[in-house]
Amino acid sequence: MGALDVTLVVQAAYLIAAGLFILALMWMSSPKTARRGVWAGEVGMLLAVVGTLLHHEVVDYNLIIIAVLLGSAIGAPMAYLMPMTAIPQRTAISHAFGALAVGLIGVAEYYRLAPTEQPGSFVLWALMFEILLGFLTCTASVIAFAKLQEMMSTRPIMFPGQRILNVIIFAAALVIGGLLIFTPASSALFPVFVGLALLFGVLLVIPIGGADMPTVIALLNSYAGLAASAMGFALNNKLLIVVGALDGTSGFILAVIMCKAMNRSFTNVLFGGFGQMAAGGAAAGTDDRPVRSMSADEAAPMLEMASSVVIIPGYGMAVAQAQHRVAELYEYLEEQGIDVKFAIHPVAGRMPGHMNVLLAEADVPYDKLVELEDINPEMPQTDIALIIGANDTVNPAARDDPNSAIAGMPIIEADRAKTVMVVKRGMSAGFAGIENPIYYNENTQMLFGDAKKMAEHLVKELQEG
Ligand code: TAP
Repeated sequence: MGALDVTLVVQAAYLIAAGLFILALMWMSSPKTARRGVWAGEVGMLLAVVGTLLHHEVVDYNLIIIAVLLGSAIGAPMAYLMPMTAIPQRTAISHAFGALAVGLIGVAEYYRLAPTEQPGSFVLWALMFEILLGFLTCTASVIAFAKLQEMMSTRPIMFPGQRILNVIIFAAALVIGGLLIFTPASSALFPVFVGLALLFGVLLVIPIGGADMPTVIALLNSYAGLAASAMGFALNNKLLIVVGALDGTSGFILAVIMCKAMNRSFTNVLFGGFGQMAAGGAAAGTDDRPVRSMSADEAAPMLEMASSVVIIPGYGMAVAQAQHRVAELYEYLEEQGIDVKFAIHPVAGRMPGHMNVLLAEADVPYDKLVELEDINPEMPQTDIALIIGANDTVNPAARDDPNSAIAGMPIIEADRAKTVMVVKRGMSAGFAGIENPIYYNENTQMLFGDAKKMAEHLVKELQEG
């Protein structure tokens, strides 16, 4: 094949890949078409990689093969062995490596192009943008990973003058970036620019508490996408521009949706000064009021007598991998003519759509999953709210206590149901680390135990009835 033919093939592969990525995003927005979306994304990525490898500038494949083997040796076990519950930190570490690659390519391109580039050129602008965003996203993602993996405290790390320091560091990076764009003689400052970007990433995330980490991950996703898009401009690679823009905007939209779901101010998120937990609100384990508890054999007849049951799953269902048993419970109750629905909180679990994915895996019909704003008006007429491993997302303190750490976060109003049953192992707190008053209400019954075992017991008791 001649050079022109290869270029055409590469451009065609890029064009089809870009189209597939757009379709992938569209299809992944509905559970019905999500599998197709994943396939489209995978085929698109394969085309993008093959297209890139065919590029006439790639002359030595040996190093590439070694890198592919090394990357696969790390990536494949990570994908298979990492539990579903660790997806947020896995996403964070992937962003860190992706952003590091973007930053390093930016550094290589800077040293290759800067001596010959016209001062103030568009390429230099794109490179500085890429390097700044790439490196700050890298260290910010490493900190997010460490917090989510609990390798460091999930509490916000604050010190006096923090915001001012952040502004100074960011401004210094911008000034040096500007000098590097317009005055070639200042290239000795380039390592300082990289250092400031790395430092700013750390400072951006340390004041953010664990409860806000999901939003940070979505935002870092957006930053990584924008950095990749800038790299596309610097390298004149149209596919990178398109894919980076898609990644950047989808991450941004997700961050906005999550801010809404957790009642966080998006402006605060954008400027990094958020996640400072409210001082008030009771810490977990401080309430010594008695709770009422019952066993599966006592709960089963109550469930059988109900005419409506709303199941509210949360992180505990994911940890216990109880979704299949919960689906069996749902099927049995439906067969008895009981109206059963699942109430889905947008941030239940540890990743967006966590409950939807688990319940889809267990073949729960999608139209049985009802969103928070649609289910809440039905709660007062619901006979039994069956909470399975959810805690923060049903905590009435978010609605009733303005001093609570999660004050204002929309919740599923399980406490308004006639009877509340809570499946969890003990009285431990949820992700936010705070007490949940719902457990002490008169209409609440605790069903202590592992979610999978308890759902199994309930099904057995119901069947043996
Ligand atoms: P959480 O508030 O985290 O509570 C989960 C509860 O499950 C715990 O209280 C725990 O109590 C129980 N549990 C753990 N293992 C269990 C098991 N094997 N069987 C039964 N119960 C078990 O859950 P949630 O209501 O889903 O709320 C999610 C929280 O995570 C929110 O604060 C949210 O902001 C945050 N977050 C969300 C995301 C996304 S994007 N979804 C990402 C990161 C963080 P016991 O130990 O007593 O059993």
